[in-house]
Amino acid sequence: MSSLQDLFTHNRAWADQMERERPGFFTSLTKQQSPKYMWIGCSDSRVPANQITGLEPGEVFVHRNVANIVVHSDLNALSAIQFAVERLKVEHIMVVGHYGCSGVQAALEGARIGLADNWIRHIQDVRDRHRTLLEALQEKQRANALCDLNVIEQVVNVCVSTVMVDAWARGQKVTIHGWAFGVHDGLLQDLQMSVASTDSIEPLYRAAIEGVIAARS
Ligand code: CO
Repeated sequence: MSSLQDLFTHNRAWADQMERERPGFFTSLTKQQSPKYMWIGCSDSRVPANQITGLEPGEVFVHRNVANIVVHSDLNALSAIQFAVERLKVEHIMVVGHYGCSGVQAALEGARIGLADNWIRHIQDVRDRHRTLLEALQEKQRANALCDLNVIEQVVNVCVSTVMVDAWARGQKVTIHGWAFGVHDGLLQDLQMSVASTDSIEPLYRAAIEGVIAARS
């Protein structure tokens, strides 16, 4: 376990090493960020966007919250997406869930935590929407399936936001992806939900849900 002082020590060592290996690295970052990617992931400390993908500072614009949820009226998430799409001109937005997500587990069990129950309620809505499919699975598959289903639903929520509807209407090329990360093996899975236009949301959504259920059955 690190102490706070260790964090500063590590920081100085990291900055020194970066500057030694790549002189001018930090100076080049001061100009402007121009990431191609936006990552919408869970706040879970085991799921660090840059490390998992091998991306450096300046390469991925990150928004994280409990259980990687995109709520239609969440001005925080929507502002981040708007900034990423309209100012940074990112080409890909990935919504990334992870297996062993305690938010997903709490939603599945209907556990009471406190204030966060109201946030988790959005995943329970996903659970309820797919209740029949989930109940047909073996119990040990349900949490992972709900993790995947939640990602797919949140991809749709990004796609139907005014930001994406307007971006696609004006011909901007942005693809929204659904991925899941295995905390147990460090691997990313593509949930085959990559949407690049408003028209393709519905067929891709149906195929991706079927894919999740088939993989878990
Ligand atoms: Co999580």
